[in-house]
Parts: sequence; structure tokens; C-alpha cells
Amino acid sequence: MRTLIANFKMNLTPSETKDYLMAFLSRFDGSKIDLTLCLPYTSLGLGALLCKNRNVRLGAQNLSDEEQGKNTGEISGAMLKDSGVDYVIIGHSERRKKFKEDTKTINKKIKVALKNGLGVILCVGESLTERNTLKTFEVLREQIECALKGLYENELERVIIAYEPIWAIGSGKTPTKNEIEGAVKEIRHIIKDDFSENASISIKVVYGGSIDSKNIKQFLSAKKLDGFLVGGACLDPNEFLKISSLCS
Ligand code: 13P
Repeated sequence: MRTLIANFKMNLTPSETKDYLMAFLSRFDGSKIDLTLCLPYTSLGLGALLCKNRNVRLGAQNLSDEEQGKNTGEISGAMLKDSGVDYVIIGHSERRKKFKEDTKTINKKIKVALKNGLGVILCVGESLTERNTLKTFEVLREQIECALKGLYENELERVIIAYEPIWAIGSGKTPTKNEIEGAVKEIRHIIKDDFSENASISIKVVYGGSIDSKNIKQFLSAKKLDGFLVGGACLDPNEFLKISSLCS
């Protein structure tokens, strides 16, 4: 069964989310796909209500690296878990860049998420300059090794790695199928080096960056790829329904 994740980013008010979910869920068949909707914080309560018994998981897009207390404006792992959240995106390039999240913080957030019973969608990927100077694999190794430092192998069952090249996000550009396969192979290789062969086979790896209902077809047969993380194209329920049925 393929994994499909929607990252709504900072889009849709709770009222708009309600309209979206009514339109989407009434036509969505959750029996053939493992879907997670990563909604904005303000839509999570509503998402939990509407997605209940629908075979759809609920995701958040960030969490605090602290457990609780004096962190005005932050959201804790326990708050997310108690709101019905199953997964949380950590290490998205938009947060690494704009909010200066470094690898130590990302590692801390992953541990907090796992401790609170949440699954993790860890985003990794190279910039255009790094790609052009053939540093993609080096960047992937550094990002993954720092993020997963100190984790137990059995915790990887709750980690999904999303390969999201920064230059492909929101740009309309994607790597070739071969390039995605190369990155996925390298990611599994890194997991094998740091954990075990078993972990490298069983960990879920998805691709994200400018995926839509037209270009996804060429990637459906990519080797060892478990699914996709979709940004812009998930915001239109009809387009996202098309993507979901292609992945089913
Ligand atoms: P786009 O699909 O809009 O390129 O965004 C991808 C992404 O950042 C998902 O996390």
C-alpha cells in the first residue's frame, strides 16, 4: 500500500478546511492507500472530528523541541497527540531556512515527537548549488545522520523519510525518476550503515517536490519508493483526489 502525505503548509482557515474535507472525504477511498493530512494547527481539532473512521491519518507540520512550559506560541508533542495527531513533519526545508532550525534542534524534535507517541515525517534534501556541485549524497548523509542520532532501531518503524530536493519545492521542477531512485537508494544505504539491513529495507521513503496529477505517473514505478509528499497540489480537493486514486 502506498503512502501519501499532504502538507497544507500555511493554507486554509478552519472554515476552508471544513469545506475542503467535506468535498474530499465524501469521494475518497481509504482502503487502498495510507493517507496522512498535515493540516495547520488551527484545523487539527476539526480534522480529527471529520477524519475519524475514514482511514485517514492526521498530521501536524511542526512541534516544539521542549516538552512543556515557558515557550510562548509553541505547540508540544503531548498537545498534538491529545488532539488526535498521528504524524508530525520535522526538518522541512522551509523551517530549516526561514526559522533557522539546525540539525540539533531537528534531532531534539524527533525525540520529543517519538516520546509522545507521534510518528515522524523527516524531510531531507539538497539545494540547487549542492546538486550542481554533486553534493546531494553528502548532504543526505549529514542530514539523516544528525536527525536520527541516538534513536533506537525499533523507533524507525515510526519514521518516514521524505526526500524533498529544495530546488523542486514549489518550482514546477522535479528530478528524473532515475535521480529519485538514486536518492532513495542512498537514503536506504545510510540507514543500513547506521542501523541495519532490516531497517534499511523496512523504513518508508517518499518523494516530495512539485508533484501533481500529471507528473506523478512517471514516478509511480520508481524502485523502493513508498509514496509521495504533496504540497501545492493537495490544496485543490479534485486534484488531490486524482493524485490519491493514481497512487491507489
Ligand atoms: P510542492 O508540492 O508545492 O512543491 O511542496 C512540496 C513540499 O514542500 C511538501 O512538504
